[in-house]
This record gives sequence, structure tokens and C-alpha cells, in this order.
Amino acid sequence: MHYHRRESWMMNENQATDEHLFVNRRQLMVGAAAGVGAGLIGGAALAAPAESQFSPAIGRASGFPHASTPITPEAINSTYNNFYEFGSSKSISQEAQALKTDPWTLTIDGDVEQEITIDIDTLMSRMPMQERVYRHRCVEGWSMVIPWVGFPLKDLVAMAAPLSKARYVRFETFYDTETAPEQKASWLPWPYTESITINEATNDLAMLVVGAYGKVLHKQFGAPLRLHLPWKYGFKSIKSISRITFGTARSKSFWEELNGNEYGFWANVNPEVPHPRWSQATEKPLGQDERVPTALFNGYGEQVAGMYAGMEGDRATWF
Ligand code: MTE
Repeated sequence: MHYHRRESWMMNENQATDEHLFVNRRQLMVGAAAGVGAGLIGGAALAAPAESQFSPAIGRASGFPHASTPITPEAINSTYNNFYEFGSSKSISQEAQALKTDPWTLTIDGDVEQEITIDIDTLMSRMPMQERVYRHRCVEGWSMVIPWVGFPLKDLVAMAAPLSKARYVRFETFYDTETAPEQKASWLPWPYTESITINEATNDLAMLVVGAYGKVLHKQFGAPLRLHLPWKYGFKSIKSISRITFGTARSKSFWEELNGNEYGFWANVNPEVPHPRWSQATEKPLGQDERVPTALFNGYGEQVAGMYAGMEGDRATWF
């Protein structure tokens, strides 16, 4: 049984009432159990099936500052996606089923002690699995709340053992024009990439995601491994990651390459800094009728604002 300290970003309400068992990619279960109180994760210990070698119990670190925002229904969330490898509309969930996620390997290279290529199941067996309910704010002005399953990015960084000179972490999505014909479009800078600082990568909130709604990650969500940075606009949360590279220089990401005036490197959520073509003051939660105010750093300022101290006046921090 794993008990977790209640972190400041964890929500304090009844959605956080489950105990979970992560088994493996083919068998991911989130089971309900009674008896969780005071924000601690507890309840019944679940035994791992004997045949499983991947059996760390996980706790639901359910949390986000806007405790009144309900979890977005899975049926809505899983049919309204941005995944340009499979099309530029939101209705790519069928097309995304072409993605082959088994086998899947992740290469970790660049300025690290030793470059490795690791099978996703082996990686998952080595990482501390958790469930976290996070808000997600797309730069387009819609938002959702998702119960992700995954592990802290900082644990992968520790495993990767970056050299002290490494300052940036670059993420790359698969590149396979057979699977994702949209990647044949030569005017787009495939493969999709993203980049953050080491400091951001080791922030408590940065999460690598392998599941959602208690299930193995749907392909349209970016299976089998995606990033989630809840304080940044959603385009930073790259899907279907196949390579993570540590380096000394900042690389240009997919959207920055396409249109750096609208989609920058930092992309921290700020309702007071409009996108060049629309306001960022409010957002439309998927499944709800009314728009709601957007919060600075998507409501996670307490945990992340310190990383940007002194940068607040620079527009680049916010787009
Ligand atoms: N990752 C890849 N590889 N390809 C994409 O097109 N879209 C981004 C991000 N990650 C994208 C991606 C954008 S713009 C958003 S808002 C989120 O994924 C959407 O995640 P969701 O479909 O799970 O809501």
C-alpha cells in the first residue's frame, strides 16, 4: 500500500476516493475502494495478479486547484482531439486507431551518461505509477479535466542521468508516413517535437502519461506515452513520444517552427495575454455550455510560478 503526502496542487474532494493498481499496458485497472480521508491515499491494498511482473500499487493523486470543475466525460474527451498526424480536424479518433503501439520503444539520448533505447513496458515497470486529475487548457480556448495515469517526468530524468551541461529536454513523436499519412505533408515540420527546460522537466507537476480514465491510453490521446504539462497550453503536451533528447541548446518545436509569432517556446497559460488572433481570458470546458475564466498558469501558479520569476513582463513567457 502506498501512502502519498498531500501536495498543494491536489484537489480536496470526493473524486479522490479510489485505490488503484497498475498492472501493465495490457491490463490497467483502477478499482474503487473506500476509506480514503484527509487527502491521503489509502484504502484496500490490491494484490497483483501472480503472472504480472509489473505490479506497483498506485495512489490517486487526484488534484487540481479548481475543485468544482468536473472530470470531462471520457466519451467527449476521446472524440475531440488534436493529433495532426491523423488529420487537422478534432475528429481523428478513428484514424488514430492505425497507430501501432506494440512494440514501442523510447530512445533517450543526447547529453546523458549513457544513451538507451527502452521498451515501453520495461520503462513502465521501473516508474512509480500514479493517477492524477489534471486540467488541460488548449491554446484554442477549450479545456478539459482528465484523470491521467502515469509517472513524474522527473523520475525519467533521474533514470536518464543527464550530464550537468544539459539544459533542455526535447521530445519527439514517431515518424511513419504509412501509419500517419498526414506526415506526408511536406509543408509541416514533421515529426512533431517539443522542448522544455530541465528545470521544467523536473517540476513536480510534469507528468508522462500512459493511461487515462483507469485504462491504457487511447491511441487518440497519444498512446503509449505522452507528456502533460498542466500549466502550459496543450500543444506543449506532445503525444506518442518515441525519443527524448537532453541537450545544451533550445530546439524549435513543431508549432514554433510553423508560426513562432503565435506559438512560442514557453507557452505558459495567462488569461491577460491574448493570442494574436483571439482572447485567452476565458475557455470552454468540453461538455459544458458556459465559458469560464481562464486562470494564470491554468491555476497551478503556486507550483510553477517560481520557475519564471523575473520573466513576467516578457510576452514570450505567455504565448
Ligand atoms: N502531439 C502530437 N504528436 N501531435 C499533435 O498534433 N497536438 C497538441 C498536443 N500534442 C498534438 C500533440 C495539441 S495542440 C493539444 S491541445 C493536445 O495534444 C491535445 O490533446 P488531447 O487530444 O488529448 O486533448
